[in-house]
Amino acid sequence: MIVLGIETSCDETAAAIVTGDGVIVAQTVLSQLDEHRPYGGVVPEVAARSHLLHVDRLVGETMKKAGMGFDELDAVAATGGPGLIGGVIVGVMTAKAIAVSRKLPFLAINHLEGHALSARLTETDRIDFPYLLLLVSGGHCQLLSVEGPGRYTRLGTTIDDALGEAFDKSAKLLGIGYPGGPAVEAAALKGDSERFSLPRPMKARKGCDFSFSGLKTAIRHAADALPPGPLQPDDIADLCAGFQAAAGDVLADRTAHALDIFLDDHPDGNALVIAGGVAANQALRNRLQILANQRSIRLVAPPASLCTDNGAMIAWAAIERIKATGMDAARDKLDFRPRPRWPLDPDAPSAAFAGAKA
Ligand code: KG4
Ligand code: ZN
Repeated sequence: MIVLGIETSCDETAAAIVTGDGVIVAQTVLSQLDEHRPYGGVVPEVAARSHLLHVDRLVGETMKKAGMGFDELDAVAATGGPGLIGGVIVGVMTAKAIAVSRKLPFLAINHLEGHALSARLTETDRIDFPYLLLLVSGGHCQLLSVEGPGRYTRLGTTIDDALGEAFDKSAKLLGIGYPGGPAVEAAALKGDSERFSLPRPMKARKGCDFSFSGLKTAIRHAADALPPGPLQPDDIADLCAGFQAAAGDVLADRTAHALDIFLDDHPDGNALVIAGGVAANQALRNRLQILANQRSIRLVAPPASLCTDNGAMIAWAAIERIKATGMDAARDKLDFRPRPRWPLDPDAPSAAFAGAKA
């Protein structure tokens, strides 16, 4: 089976061709970082126009790299949401156009499902369902029990900011650039994580929900309390190291709670998987590895290039669905409408309600 996947839901225009065995035959990712950098965050209108400008060329380049024509594909998949609606429309319309013109099945993929299944996108040693997923990206921070393609139970979510958003906003207020995650990680390498006393929001609270807006505010207060004048490199490094340590403690605490629930429901569960852009952070991976060792569970983290947004995870999620249900049930109708909001677990209580319960 050979599937083309297209991803345009945020600030990466991406395409990839993946086989049923999990081989990434070709992939292309065009980051819009330079276009959004002057604004310190992703501007939806700028993103949509840029996707529109580049997506055709990118798909063409990917096909060329693979040495394939559209007729050799078995299906075309695109992110159908959740995400910035202008970009999602561009990707969905591109995939539909290829599907119609070549009489191929079209699949609309939930972006979160792409991240959720990316840890299984490998040629060897594929992890089995069920597993516990910590999905940490710019727009989401969730703990999910992954039981199979299309089968997810949300155990916790953020009641305010996503962790990636907190990284990005903290970096912005420290003036160290965009995107914030890699900038904070690099600055933290030389920092003392204990110099500033920062909160661990939600730690030891019941349930598995997260909150990061207080941590971001604490960074602002700590920076404001320093002597007037520009922040010094040591201060920035210490604040970043403190932020990362606090975020790591919170992730480990919330994930430990989720592991209790998950393993109760699924004694056969054998892995803790981290995915999403923030999962590229080595310090956070190390912190979760300690937790995994304590709980004798395997920690699986996709390579950094599959953690941030990419087309391969979209093609792979399509392949997983096709394998699970067969092509006829897996394909979407051509009148599929992009979904700016699309929860993976439609039965989960709203974030606000879950927070109130905690
Ligand atoms: O999954 P992703 O590429 O896009 C979304 O679906 O949101 O995640 C982007 C987020 C950004 O907030 C970015 O700052 C964060 O992932 N990120 C990181 C790192 N690399 C990317 N956060 C922490 N450490 C990193 N090394
Ligand atoms: Zn993403």
